[in-house]
Amino acid sequence: MSIVFLNQKFIPVEEAKISPMDRGFLFGDGVYEVLPSYDGEIIGFDLHIDRLKTNMSAVGISLSWSHQKWLKICKTLIKKNGFGSLGVYLHVSRGSEPVRSHSYADGIDPTVFVFSFKIPPEQTASKSQIVPYKVSTSLDLRWSRCQIKSTSLLGNVMHLQQGHQDGFDETLLFNNKDELREGSTCNVYIVKNGVVITPPLDNHILPGITRCILLDLLLKDGSIEVKERIISKEEVFSATEVWVTSSSKGVIPVVEVDGKPINDGEVGDIWLLAQKIYSKGKKNY
Ligand code: PDD
Repeated sequence: MSIVFLNQKFIPVEEAKISPMDRGFLFGDGVYEVLPSYDGEIIGFDLHIDRLKTNMSAVGISLSWSHQKWLKICKTLIKKNGFGSLGVYLHVSRGSEPVRSHSYADGIDPTVFVFSFKIPPEQTASKSQIVPYKVSTSLDLRWSRCQIKSTSLLGNVMHLQQGHQDGFDETLLFNNKDELREGSTCNVYIVKNGVVITPPLDNHILPGITRCILLDLLLKDGSIEVKERIISKEEVFSATEVWVTSSSKGVIPVVEVDGKPINDGEVGDIWLLAQKIYSKGKKNY
C-alpha cells in the first residue's frame, strides 16, 4: 500500500481526498517537482526546492516552507514507501475556492500533495545495459511559459501520447523555424564533432535539474566540450549522438529520430563517457 502526504498528514493513498473545487483540478493551477531518490539518497534536492520556490513565486502561490521542512517530508515518505529507486512527486496547487472563477482571491490555502513512484534502477555507464530511445519530432504546440514547471501539462501530454501511439519513446519539439526546444518530458542534447550541444534556456524550455547537474559536471570534468546554442532540425538528424535527460530517466541515448538511425543505431562513446561522469558526480548535488 502506498503512503502519500496530503494536508500535513501521511496517509494511505486510498484515504487521500481533494476537493473537486481545488484549482489544481479545475484549472491545472499549480506547480510541481519530481525528485529522483536511490536508496534514500535524493539527487539535486536543493536545486529542486529552489526551482519549486521560483515557480510558486512566478505563479503567485505563497507557501513559505523551508528546505528543511520539504526534506523531512521527502525523507519520511521515502522511508514509508520502502526506499529503492523512487521518484518523489511534490505538487502545490493554489487550493480550493467555493466558486469557480478564472481569477482568484488572495490568501487561499495551497494544497500540498506528495507521493512516490517507482523509477528505473540507477543507471550504470554500460552500453549493453542501457535501453536507448527511439523518438519522433513535432512542432511545439504548447504555451509560451514552459520554463514554469506547471501542472497544466495537456500540451506535453498530447505530444507524448502522439509519440507513444506512433511507437516512439519520446517526442522532440521544434519551433516554427525548425529549431530544437526540448522533449515532451525531457531536455535534449546532440553531439557534433565531439561537442555536446543543448539549446540555451528560454521561456520555451524547462530548466531541467538533470540538465543543470550534467552540464556542471561536464564543465568541471573538462574532457568533453559543452555548448549551449540553437540547434537546427537538420543538425539533430546528422548528429553523431542524441541524448535526453530528466530526473526520472537520467541520461538516455537516442538511436533513432523519426525512423532515421543516429550513429548507425548504436549507443555512442560520448554518451558512455558522460554517463560515467554523471553517475560518479550526481550524488554531490
Ligand atoms: N519531467 N522538460 C520537460 C518538459 C519535463 O517535463 C522535464 C521533466 C524535463 C527535465 O527536467 P528535470 O531534469 O528537472 O527532471 C524537461 C518530469 C520528470 C515529469 O514531468 O515527470
